[in-house]
Amino acid sequence: PHAHHQASSGGSDKAAKATAANPPPFTPFAERMPLPEVLKPVSTQGDFDVYELPMLAATNEIFPGVSTPVLTFGGQFIGPTIHARQGRAAKVTYINRLDRAATVHLHGGHVSSASDGFPMDLIEPGQSRVFEYPNQQPGASLWYHDHTHHMEAEHVYRGLAGLYLIEGDDEKELGLPSGTYDVPIVVRDGRFDEKGGMIFEPSPEPTMLHTNGRIQPYFPVAARKYRLRLLNTTLHRIIEVSLGGQELVQIASDGGLLAEPVSRTKITLTPGERAEVVVDFSRHEAGSHVLLTDARENEPIVRFDVTGTATDDSRVPDKLRALPALPKASNVRKVKFSMTADGTQFAINDKTFDHNRVDFRIKEGTTEIWEITNADTADGGTHGAIDHNFHMHLVPFRVLDRDGKAPLPGEQGLKDTILVSPGETVRVQATFSGFRGKYLYHCHIQEHSDIGMMATMEIV
Ligand code: C2O
Ligand code: CU
Ligand code: CU
Repeated sequence: PHAHHQASSGGSDKAAKATAANPPPFTPFAERMPLPEVLKPVSTQGDFDVYELPMLAATNEIFPGVSTPVLTFGGQFIGPTIHARQGRAAKVTYINRLDRAATVHLHGGHVSSASDGFPMDLIEPGQSRVFEYPNQQPGASLWYHDHTHHMEAEHVYRGLAGLYLIEGDDEKELGLPSGTYDVPIVVRDGRFDEKGGMIFEPSPEPTMLHTNGRIQPYFPVAARKYRLRLLNTTLHRIIEVSLGGQELVQIASDGGLLAEPVSRTKITLTPGERAEVVVDFSRHEAGSHVLLTDARENEPIVRFDVTGTATDDSRVPDKLRALPALPKASNVRKVKFSMTADGTQFAINDKTFDHNRVDFRIKEGTTEIWEITNADTADGGTHGAIDHNFHMHLVPFRVLDRDGKAPLPGEQGLKDTILVSPGETVRVQATFSGFRGKYLYHCHIQEHSDIGMMATMEIV
């Protein structure tokens, strides 16, 4: 039943004798949720900004007073946020000061293949590499993370990830909450030993969520509107973000602003997915607490403590951003997720990842429909029902339908990562323009992509 935990990149019989998690004690809501640091450019040129970002081992206080060894960008467990602007390029030099090879992928980025962080194209310890991000795409909340072949799950779990926010040309005039009222919330998970060490052993045992690098923190807010940018970077947890039934006004998904705001009470986020919501805390009196949870496990993400009033001239307009027209598709492809028959690996169209193989060749500039099916069902799969999600590099897609039914609210904008439940078929449509070369598509449950559920497309 929990087969997807059996196969790990680190060994075969680990699941059977998984280390019992015994996390350090902590008091919930005693620590304030930190905000990721903002990375400052080392220089600013005519039409681009230059950044430097070392990868290094460090420690972080996930549990108060306990230092947990982690892998970081810039020494920060949640890597520093890069603030980019639409139309203005960024050149980032990644410097590897780790004891191991690594690479960096900009998830959601429309970038050249050379800057996409291919899993075998590694930055060796002591080496550095410049990646160029043109930012010629609509404003959106992206994130950067390690993509090292067979190691990405562990590397991201231990901390190699951060936010990359592109501000769209259209955003200022919309009047959405901004500045200190625009708050990133990066949700991760872990299993911990009594010293706070992170146990990396895919196993059926539950993990604990931590938020912006702290376990169950609180965050003071004024009684006014906030824009919250949510990112799920857990290993395999599908979280259902909820304010206990109160309204979350979703304004953006992976690919940026939605056409119009959608009122929701719960938002499902699979690993790699983002959602942006506006929450109006003016409905609450000073002194009240508003709990953001993962409703699936009824586990706190962060408690908002409403501390007082503040002026608020922000708003949520009825129209946010027009979606690009859907061009006619010239090709249809099928993508099937399933475990291999022996249950040790994960495959796409019955093949595990091979970096020497090109799975799909796509003509640049064309539009295609991909039918993504999750064949790991309770009765049809080799090891029972397993959730997968689908992520495509290079270009965002539109969700056409789920099992023939209209996409869910919040899924109607531009997406790059999408849940595919057992037995389900999700049809998406994408236009492959702008760059040629090799790019990946994969399940973004990194324990799965890590052991085969990944494939290569070549734009020609
Ligand atoms: Cu979030 Cu292939 O990546
Ligand atoms: Cu990606
Ligand atoms: Cu999967």
